[in-house]
Amino acid sequence: MEFFIDTANIDEIRQAKGYGLIDGVTTNPTLLAREGGDWRKQAEVIVNEVEGPVSLEVVGMTAEEMVAEAQDLVKFGSNVVIKIPMIMEGVKATRQLTDMGIKTNVTLVFSPMQALLAAKAGATYVSPFVGRLDGISHDGMEVISQIVTIYENYGYATKVLVASVRHPKHVLDAALMGADVSTIPFNVLSQFAKHPLTDLGLEAFMKDWATLTDE
Ligand code: G3P
Repeated sequence: MEFFIDTANIDEIRQAKGYGLIDGVTTNPTLLAREGGDWRKQAEVIVNEVEGPVSLEVVGMTAEEMVAEAQDLVKFGSNVVIKIPMIMEGVKATRQLTDMGIKTNVTLVFSPMQALLAAKAGATYVSPFVGRLDGISHDGMEVISQIVTIYENYGYATKVLVASVRHPKHVLDAALMGADVSTIPFNVLSQFAKHPLTDLGLEAFMKDWATLTDE
């Protein structure tokens, strides 16, 4: 499974990269706004920092605007992926960008039918938001399971990118379902290695080691 980091914070990206765990980055307008300042400079730094795909989102509401923005955004680097909202104009833009050879990530996806549309439009990635679905008492992971099944049934190449991840179990379930990618907030990524038995075991090893001599 590929791990992307869901942030526009360069320190978090560098730290995650330092662990050797990061295959790509996803941003969105909210994440860039959280960093403040000039979004272009921020996007440029991120795109240059990582070798893997970096999702940058368009904000236009028509296919024409989205395609024009995408053509501007891809100038940041060859690893840029254009994030497109799941609306009919977005579907249209995704098809056009796919035909132009530009990679896309269809975002704000909350149902299997939306994911099917994204695949039919030739999207490179589809981003279903599991945490936001759970937040309104739906089952986010059930939607992932259905999308994986539909894509397998018809051999769609669109990669399932599990987004809006809230805890390690979302990533565990996604991995068991065979989702291609999880985009993970830094605070969730840091939890993966944690286990109380690991901490207790390490403490005991260190304590026992300290009773030895080294001559
Ligand atoms: O980047 C898209 C998605 O992961 C956002 O998640 O935390 O705003 O629901 P969140």
